[in-house]
Amino acid sequence: MCGIVCYVGSKPAKPILLKGLKQLEYRGYDSSGFAIQNGDQIECHRAAGKIAELEKKLNGLDIKGSMGIAHTRWATHGEPTEENAHPHRDNDENVFVIHNGIIENFYALKKRLEKDGVVFRSETDTEVLAHLISLNFDGSLSEAVRKTMSQVEGTFGMAVINRRSPGEIVIARRGSPLIIGVSEDGHFAASDVAAMVRYTNKVVHLQDNELATLTREDFSMSTAQAKPVERSAETVEWRAEDTELNGFPHYMLKEIYEQPETIKNAMRGRLETGEGVPKLGGIMPVWDRLKECRHMVIVACGTSYYAGCVGRYIFEKLTEIDVDVELASEFRYRKLNFAPNTFVIAISQSGETADTLAAIREAKRKGASLLGIVNVVGSSISRETEAGVYNHAGPEIGVASTKIFTSQLTILVLLAILLGRHQNLSLTEGVEVIHALEALSDQVGTVLSQANHIEAIAEKYFNYNNWLFLGRKYNYPIAMEGALKLKEISYIHAEGYPAGEMKHGPIALISPEMPTVAIVPRDEMYEKMISNIQEVKSRRGPVIAITTLGDDRIKEIADDVIEIPPTLSFLNPILAAVACQLLSYYCANFLNRDIDMPRNLAKSVTVE
Ligand code: AGP
Repeated sequence: MCGIVCYVGSKPAKPILLKGLKQLEYRGYDSSGFAIQNGDQIECHRAAGKIAELEKKLNGLDIKGSMGIAHTRWATHGEPTEENAHPHRDNDENVFVIHNGIIENFYALKKRLEKDGVVFRSETDTEVLAHLISLNFDGSLSEAVRKTMSQVEGTFGMAVINRRSPGEIVIARRGSPLIIGVSEDGHFAASDVAAMVRYTNKVVHLQDNELATLTREDFSMSTAQAKPVERSAETVEWRAEDTELNGFPHYMLKEIYEQPETIKNAMRGRLETGEGVPKLGGIMPVWDRLKECRHMVIVACGTSYYAGCVGRYIFEKLTEIDVDVELASEFRYRKLNFAPNTFVIAISQSGETADTLAAIREAKRKGASLLGIVNVVGSSISRETEAGVYNHAGPEIGVASTKIFTSQLTILVLLAILLGRHQNLSLTEGVEVIHALEALSDQVGTVLSQANHIEAIAEKYFNYNNWLFLGRKYNYPIAMEGALKLKEISYIHAEGYPAGEMKHGPIALISPEMPTVAIVPRDEMYEKMISNIQEVKSRRGPVIAITTLGDDRIKEIADDVIEIPPTLSFLNPILAAVACQLLSYYCANFLNRDIDMPRNLAKSVTVE
């Protein structure tokens, strides 16, 4: 997804903007650019490709100015070329705009503007904003932006500067996140906290159909209808070092290794072991309704969806609640008839995924109550759900979600225990699960200690072009998630399948050229998984088994074995997921992939 970074203050803008863009690289992009204002002069530079290409163009240039806007573009309209890179400007080179989102009526606007003599220089939808704002400018940049907001349809997070409005940056939001950063050295705006956390952790979230004017000394907000908005700054928990590699070769590997800590963070201050009843303060606003709830729908995308799929089994095990799990991108188009007191739970790391946001808005229209399990504090989904639970996992920079996935599973277990203990889960059972959760961090550490062994397995198989992942019950979603991890960072084709489905088709694929990862811990599905493994082996398919420590029987059957410590059956997915993360990481590394920024992918999919 595109990235936005803006600064106006007492310091030189260029280094701040370039560092900010680098912190947003993980969002995925294919070109970049910035515009810096110095008095009534604006200097603009853009480049296709990585930010390093932009820096090459700046070599030796002394660009003065303590105010500017910068952008990484993830192409939606038009090729990733320099001419399509942001900022875009009007024909008189007065107004410069950067934009995240999609202007849905840009074609009609473009035709009308061209008829009035405007010359377009790019294929982008964004350029119409520059021309409209310039035409609407009548002394006030914010009024020109406000008027433009009323003329465009679709989504935007935009930032604008104007040669005729020195010292002012105007930002506006409809559907694409924008956050204001407040510091003694001036004010920031960005699409993501990571771009400014090095300078401030005081942030204010702009909300939909609001705009703000930032100057060195102050900032003011108002609605699209010119109603003033007052909102106090929040303090984010993130620190600058959270966005550094700290010696790891990739953010993904760093975040895989953070999991013993992030699993602890998911439980910190929330385990009331005495009564076997966790404390989740964030859901208290709806607790009276939630504790009576007997039907839930989990909506999410990608890895978060697979967390929800494990969550369904966890709720089935620990509560009397009937849980459905839906892909948000499908759910939002369904004819929904909710039973009374249905809760829809949105699971989202970024809290900005367009499909998940649209799904909860549709659920709300149809009368459901909304909960969120979100990592980014103050994000759209966290604000549009009535209550929820934060991951407190710090920024996840790697595009492939790892630490957040195991954090989501941990929180789902906590939520299920809490609800179960108000239903049929006994104190003893609640305490048993909590004790098993408390052991998880060290157990994840045990899986991580096998990294060299897992790397050796990856080295054996990274050249295979098609993989199969198999699991049953709690581990079927891990088969899906393991396949997704491998696909998205190594570009190897992989399919996750419920092992019981093998005989209904996929077994036709088995061959010596197709490794199968079988997730086969010592749980109630063990014997059936052994049969599946033998079906694969009898067709000479290589098998990599993820199994419980000390399982000698598997070692006689599988070609390679990764062992995970023993735990409760519904906690195995957390440990198996870590093994799959490392396996996919090392395969991608052997293939020299761009692991933190895989091709075509974005960290937060804020467009539909
Ligand atoms: C996971 O590795 C992917 N990057 C992707 O599937 C991601 O989980 C999905 O886009 C959902 O993102 P969210 O959790 O921020 O909503």
